[in-house]
Amino acid sequence: MSKFIIKGGIPLKGNVVISGAKNAAVAIIPAALMSGEPCTIENVPNIRDVHTLIDIITNMGAKIVWLDEHTIEIDPTELRCPMVPYESSKQLRASYYLLGAMIGRFGRATVSMPGGCEIGNRPIDQHLKGFRALGVDICTGNGVINAQASALTGGTIYFDTVSVGATINVMLASVRAQGATVLENAAKEPHVVDVANFLNSLGADIVGAGTDIIRVKGVQKLTGHSYFIMPDQIEAGTFMLCSMVTGGDIEVSNVTPKHLRAITDKLKNMGASITESDDAVRVRMQGELRCTNIKTMPYPGFPTDMQPQIVAALCLAKGTSIVTEGVWENRFKYANELIRLGANLQVNDRTVVVENIPQFKGAPVTATDLRAGAALMIAALAAKDTTELEQIHHIERGYEDIITKLQKLGANISKTHCEGTLTGPIELRGAV
Ligand code: UD1
Repeated sequence: MSKFIIKGGIPLKGNVVISGAKNAAVAIIPAALMSGEPCTIENVPNIRDVHTLIDIITNMGAKIVWLDEHTIEIDPTELRCPMVPYESSKQLRASYYLLGAMIGRFGRATVSMPGGCEIGNRPIDQHLKGFRALGVDICTGNGVINAQASALTGGTIYFDTVSVGATINVMLASVRAQGATVLENAAKEPHVVDVANFLNSLGADIVGAGTDIIRVKGVQKLTGHSYFIMPDQIEAGTFMLCSMVTGGDIEVSNVTPKHLRAITDKLKNMGASITESDDAVRVRMQGELRCTNIKTMPYPGFPTDMQPQIVAALCLAKGTSIVTEGVWENRFKYANELIRLGANLQVNDRTVVVENIPQFKGAPVTATDLRAGAALMIAALAAKDTTELEQIHHIERGYEDIITKLQKLGANISKTHCEGTLTGPIELRGAV
């Protein structure tokens, strides 16, 4: 087991290059399996979630070659219809995209139910509702989803709730359905658009991605192509907050500033000076942070995946802030760990009241999931003394080379190996 040792209080300065988006990559890689030819995917984030997914699809018969550190070639020609076992699906919740991709390619799939998680109940009823509307028979039992379609046909689906996963999953399957599919009340997140753009580059016919109505005309085959994954807006937002809490000056580059608007707007309210260029944002912080209120919402609202990190920053803001979690029902589990660093937080159901503290104080803390880990890291970078952060495998699931990137900005952070070794598969539930 490893941990991060962080000595805080250093203003971070310089340039950081943002990696490809995790949540786009874990959908685009399964989407590539629907093609009959090899695809090259560039700007792949070199993170644990991607390696887990690659292990799963390699076991299914896909051939993967790393052409360089961020480019993979996926050859799906020898792919077999999958049985994704629980051991795999619990490590990577996004393995549910293999359902949509395999239904699209083979008309059938068997995938274990994704495991539970740390941020609330995570049903997939909307994914299944969408597949059924395309003529797929779904049986669930013994923790397994069996999907079988004698004929995959287009249909109209109104999602009861805005779901990124359901939108992408049903879009995947519908690409190869006979006739037209309409997805209503679809998620508008930039990575939904990225997956649609990728599929269109293979020959799919998808319009409307990025709006709440997506229309898909089924096609008979998809060809190989090369595609460059969009930047990770959550990684970018995390570094923007690192600049703010340390009184720093960071240029966050290889981003799409438009995708960061909800974050940029809040950070400006909190006192940051932010300048945008074509593919970078520069975040400077001088003086005191100011409080603000936030409610997380589906895109283009403030992203839930930035909620723990911004709560960490708001602890240092003058006044009282109220943050409401509008997407997940249980996403304040990290609060107790932040309190160990000196935070003054009161959690009540889906709201946390954040009172100002003058400074965090270093302590041993534990990451409970990916973004919770990022929040603790932000607090530790601002803290007076040294923080030991455990369970960092959560952070490494979604942040590429985080130690090197922070060190280049001047942070005093290192990784050490603790006593004791892992005895079984790493428990990665809470995969968000
Ligand atoms: C994705 C992201 C995750 C992010 C979340 C919300 C990936 C791999 N993960 O997760 O980082 O936090 O979007 O932006 O892209 N719901 C249902 N029924 C369903 C599906 C979802 O009720 O069938 C509910 C969920 O309980 C939740 C809300 O819809 O309250 C949003 O979930 P969803 O957008 O599906 O999240 P994920 O796609 O799993």
